[in-house]
Amino acid sequence: MEFSSHQTLSLFLIINSLLLSSSPLLHALDTISFTTLGRLSYAFDIFALPAAGPAREIRLTDGNSVNFNGHFPPTRPDPNTHHLIYVTERNGSSKIYLDVLRHTTRGSSRSALEVPTESTRSQVLLIGDEQTNGRVSMKDRPTLAGGDLIYISTHEDPGKPRSSWTAVYSTELSTGSTRRLTPSGIADYSPAVSPSGAFTAVASYGEKGWSGDVEELGTDIYVFSTRDGSGRVRIVEHGGWPSWADESNLYFHRRCEDGWWSVFAASFDIVGGKIDVDSVVTRRVTPTGLHAFTPAASAANKSFIAVATRRPGSEYRHIELYDVVLNKFYELTQPVSPNTHHLNPFISPDSVWVGYHRCRGETNDGVGNDNDLVIENVRSPLSSLSLLRVYGSFPSYSPDGERVAYVQFPGVYVMNRDGSGIREVSKLYAFATSWDWKRKGVVYTSAGPDFSSESTKVDIVSINVDDEDSSHNYKTLTKGGANNAFPSPSPDGKWVVFRSGRSGHKNLYIMDALKGEEGRLYRLTEGPWSDTMCNWSPDGEWIVFASDRENPGGGSFEMFKIHPNGTGLQKVIQSGTGGRTNHPWFSPDGKQIVFTTDYAGVSAEPISNPHHYQPYGEIFVINSDGSGLQRLTHNSYEDGTPTWSPKYIGPTTNVELPYGASKCQFEDCHWLNIAIAPHQASKRQCAAA
Ligand SMILES: *[C@@H]1O[C@H](CO)[C@@H](O)[C@H](O)[C@H]1NC(C)=O
Ligand SMILES: *[C@@H]1O[C@H](CO)[C@@H](O)[C@H](O)[C@H]1NC(C)=O
Ligand SMILES: *[C@@H]1O[C@H](CO)[C@@H](O)[C@H](O)[C@H]1NC(C)=O
Repeated sequence: MEFSSHQTLSLFLIINSLLLSSSPLLHALDTISFTTLGRLSYAFDIFALPAAGPAREIRLTDGNSVNFNGHFPPTRPDPNTHHLIYVTERNGSSKIYLDVLRHTTRGSSRSALEVPTESTRSQVLLIGDEQTNGRVSMKDRPTLAGGDLIYISTHEDPGKPRSSWTAVYSTELSTGSTRRLTPSGIADYSPAVSPSGAFTAVASYGEKGWSGDVEELGTDIYVFSTRDGSGRVRIVEHGGWPSWADESNLYFHRRCEDGWWSVFAASFDIVGGKIDVDSVVTRRVTPTGLHAFTPAASAANKSFIAVATRRPGSEYRHIELYDVVLNKFYELTQPVSPNTHHLNPFISPDSVWVGYHRCRGETNDGVGNDNDLVIENVRSPLSSLSLLRVYGSFPSYSPDGERVAYVQFPGVYVMNRDGSGIREVSKLYAFATSWDWKRKGVVYTSAGPDFSSESTKVDIVSINVDDEDSSHNYKTLTKGGANNAFPSPSPDGKWVVFRSGRSGHKNLYIMDALKGEEGRLYRLTEGPWSDTMCNWSPDGEWIVFASDRENPGGGSFEMFKIHPNGTGLQKVIQSGTGGRTNHPWFSPDGKQIVFTTDYAGVSAEPISNPHHYQPYGEIFVINSDGSGLQRLTHNSYEDGTPTWSPKYIGPTTNVELPYGASKCQFEDCHWLNIAIAPHQASKRQCAAA
């Protein structure tokens, strides 16, 4: 089975056009833009190094899009050929590819240096949206088991708020026939297939469900039959990211009570083709004093595993080998590329190669594309809607739809809607943007730190973005700085609604758009809770906002709407106990609201990604009467601050930043940075139960 990349591309176009023509146009054409923390700087490719020691790192993926979570399928050993199955986000949706990379040497060698080396690549789409009934979904963690591909997809709605849609599927590659291996209503993460293919291990909550964790998920390790998902048993309480050494031994990670992430081993007996749950014995493998996680075991050589580490004093996540006989670490990536993060190792079946992914940025090896994106087209589940991931946070469109304002912590920026003409219009540290409907070039924002208390100094300012003197082009509209934020102007240009902590609680207020609160100010909501993230409807009739009034301080935010005169309060959506429905924004016709929410839980173990404050963040739309809830994005990243464009922007090609090479500007999980004092660590034992 081999396709050229040209054939694969044609296949794509055919599938895309079939899908697009099969969904009826229910609404006018719409465009929603949103932000994904760090994602436009990922530029991940999959690389490999020989386990035996330092040598030249080889790049296995083609330098396009974001490529990650690789798997080496079993193949006959050939030192000149690499087979790689991996996840890619090219062309706006998550899918699983197989690449076959052949290195050929041409001509008789006079000198090794003169021999030209060529690589040929064939690329096959293994799992796209057609395996998930045409539904857009996140695909992840592929493994080939015989002729079946085992992987994660998020295309089925469990029907419960705050439940992950993440489940394990098996697709027979010869027929495309797909079955779900995870019981319905349950979320499974990080599948790993045993060397014989008989068993699949996963990290799962089982029936108990997600409790809101964003660092370590409170998962257990379950094992079931790869054939049909039967015989599902829990073999380890508290663990994630399983990897099999052989049929009765696997490794996994957990965060210990001493604070360090460590790799553990579980051993068990197989009796009559089934795991004897009572025989399971676990032990800690990697020592205290450093974080070691996302283990990968090797079938051909069981004396070592590969792990990602964060060592005290190191800013970067690296791949190391751990010799489980000698209890010794060997650095793999640190000597080769010291100043970048390396994630999620995997080992070839012959134990010769260790793969991982890292940002290709600034490698300047002349292959692929090192640029960050400023606008990325994201595959939309609705044919009438285009979805754009944009650079910066809190994007908003000018009323004529021609320009976008956004913030970058610090700085307020404006660009043309096609991504050109990026310009800093203010050096203020600010969050949230919205354009005046009547006065051309006037953008409201809140200047000061985000995520802070009622008394923090934050004030609403209006910026004239067409005045290039950034020291004088803004006017402060609020006084006293009691966390005045999230301004949204009325369509008649007369008023601005915002939230303020001036009473000791964050409630909504409305002030004069020109003169600020000195002109006129009145209070819209009142109560000992937080009303925030307000947006004024384009017909002027409603203000939508997020509020924790049903459980003040409990971290749960419901979505409400209210008339500007304070009447007609209605709940638009209940977020689910402890849940969040944040950053609502009205559609241009006022009939729908886009927002970000944890309604779909977390879609991957957070430690397998760079840092996301809110890894559950996904973009949803709902009709403004509270009906017709619909998920728009599928990924394990933090999607947030959505906005609606007044004009349709068709799915065009991605727009690259003119900055040149990717700066790989994303951070490793903040909770791995926390230094643990050595004396503290050694005193406490990590339970092995
Ligand atoms: C898919 O993405 C690649 C680069 O990531 C691009 O070269 C190609 O034109 C895209 N194909 C389509 C159909 O958009
Ligand atoms: C297995 O791996 C260990 C540790 O890297 C190495 O010392 C040993 O030579 C390997 N054994 C085989 C048979 O490759
Ligand atoms: C409040 O505003 C709404 C919407 O504009 C309107 O229907 C309603 O009559 C107003 N109520 C009062 C008391 O003014």
